[in-house]
Amino acid sequence: MKKITAFLLMLAPVAALAAGGNIKLLDADVDLNNKASLQRGAQLYVNYCMGCHSLSSMRYNRMGQDIGLSDEQVAQNLMFVSDFSTSSTGELPKMGSLMENAMPAEDAANWFGTKVPDLSVIARSRGADWLYTYLKTFYVDDSRPMGVNNEAFPLVGMPHVLWELEGLKKPVYETHEGEDGEEVKELVDYEMVKEGSMSPAEYDNAVRDLVNFLVYTGEPAKLDRYKIGVWVILFLVVLFFFAYALKKEYWKDIH
Ligand code: HEC
Repeated sequence: MKKITAFLLMLAPVAALAAGGNIKLLDADVDLNNKASLQRGAQLYVNYCMGCHSLSSMRYNRMGQDIGLSDEQVAQNLMFVSDFSTSSTGELPKMGSLMENAMPAEDAANWFGTKVPDLSVIARSRGADWLYTYLKTFYVDDSRPMGVNNEAFPLVGMPHVLWELEGLKKPVYETHEGEDGEEVKELVDYEMVKEGSMSPAEYDNAVRDLVNFLVYTGEPAKLDRYKIGVWVILFLVVLFFFAYALKKEYWKDIH
């Protein structure tokens, strides 16, 4: 009995995750080797997300190095004096400081009724496809405090912060009969009610860049591993030729 209980407990988190909006996830199709995409993603992140969310395991200078920006470029484009910053006194953060100028927890609780999660490892816990889908499925819902709801995260407490880029869309429902004979309302499509500054294709690309950046922050060492991996393969190829030549040399009198 104990074993069964333990097994069921192990499954609980899986069930909880699965419960978070039963929708088909869109393919994020990110590319960590695309530095330009990572740079655009970082720009979007500091402009649209960092006011609320921290990135507490990332330092400005490490990020700059990894995504191919000099310290000056980071300072000029990706650092802002944050109104919420708890540590600084209206000064720019330092190159080596953590990217954590998020709003104090009490403010967040007052404004959104919930904590604003740190996004350092969000791509690892939710997955790139989920993030991509989440940022693309905000829709107008007047019954919600922020005026929007989300298909991937029902009853979400976060406003649609990218609405100026994407525009606003209304859900289109279809009703059909469910298995138990009851009517089921299903969200099948969206209808634009307010145009954004980007076309749908441009918005998709922007969201892809942003998710790419979040995947990178979730595991910064991955970029190093890719780089090292190439050298390891090259080394193995070269080694193969020597080993093969040596083998031929050893066996030539036997055959
Ligand atoms: C105005 C403040 C604010 C801004 C700006 C903001 N968020 Fe959020 N975000 C929130 C709050 C509050 C929640 C918690 C929602 C909840 O639990 O209902 C949240 C939740 C999330 C989650 C879900 C985390 C989880 O629990 O799985 C993700 C992902 C996310 N935000 C990403 C982003 C990204 C990417 C941006 C920038 C484009 C951004 N947020 C900008 C307030 C904000």
